[in-house]
Amino acid sequence: MDYFEVIEERRSIRKYEQRPIAEEIIQKLAASVLRAPSSRGGRRPWEFVIVTDRKMLGKLAVARSKEPSFVMGAPLAVVVGADERACDVWIEDASIACTYILLSAQALGLGGCWMQIRERKHPDGRWAEAYVRELLDLPSHLRVQAIIALGYPAEAKEPYNAEELPVGKIHRENTPAASNRIRSSGDGPFGSFVLPTAKPAIATFRDYVFPLSQIGILCPPCLESA
Ligand SMILES: Cc1cc2nc3c(=O)[nH]c(=O)nc-3n(C[C@H](O)[C@H](O)[C@H](O)COP(=O)(O)O)c2cc1C
Repeated sequence: MDYFEVIEERRSIRKYEQRPIAEEIIQKLAASVLRAPSSRGGRRPWEFVIVTDRKMLGKLAVARSKEPSFVMGAPLAVVVGADERACDVWIEDASIACTYILLSAQALGLGGCWMQIRERKHPDGRWAEAYVRELLDLPSHLRVQAIIALGYPAEAKEPYNAEELPVGKIHRENTPAASNRIRSSGDGPFGSFVLPTAKPAIATFRDYVFPLSQIGILCPPCLESA
């Protein structure tokens, strides 16, 4: 599958067929995630625990709630952690690894979804990380970022249309119009965290990403007047 097809077709998949994932595919996933970039000259602080045991998957599924999450129905999950002693930016390293797993899974015909563990609580009041560490007998320096559930998709999701993409989030150079758009972009579903100044301009993907008249122009003229 072409790289851009993988990117365009990826969606979070939370329902899976029950057929197991072949060992060969698991090996491909492993070889892929181990090629992920990592900080501090490539310290690779991550650790990956691949879980296929149904009972264990059921226990991981309730890491954050009494109701089991989608991890329950997955034939495989990867618990992604990192040694916080190895690197101050282990969160970034672990997050990039999660992305590698999700995109590689897509390229291999699998679907997957991220279940956030870090900064989330278990229903008994403990950190979800502590619950997962205890379940898998992991040491305390191993921080748990996420569980990535994977399986052959049992739900279909439409890729995002190019027309629906939030093109207003792409800014060409630091023009006043771009700064205004960035300031006002907090005026979204999570409330306004900065005073909105100007509404984002209505523009097409082409205006931002493929401005034909870009050479010598910092920002498409239609946006400068917004
Ligand atoms: C950091 C991060 C944490 C996420 N945590 C969860 C989660 O705990 N549960 C869940 O169902 N989906 C989770 N997701 C998936 C998002 O809900 C999903 O990516 C988003 O709704 C956009 O949908 P899409 O992936 O199909 O494009 C997470 C995604 C990211 C990047």
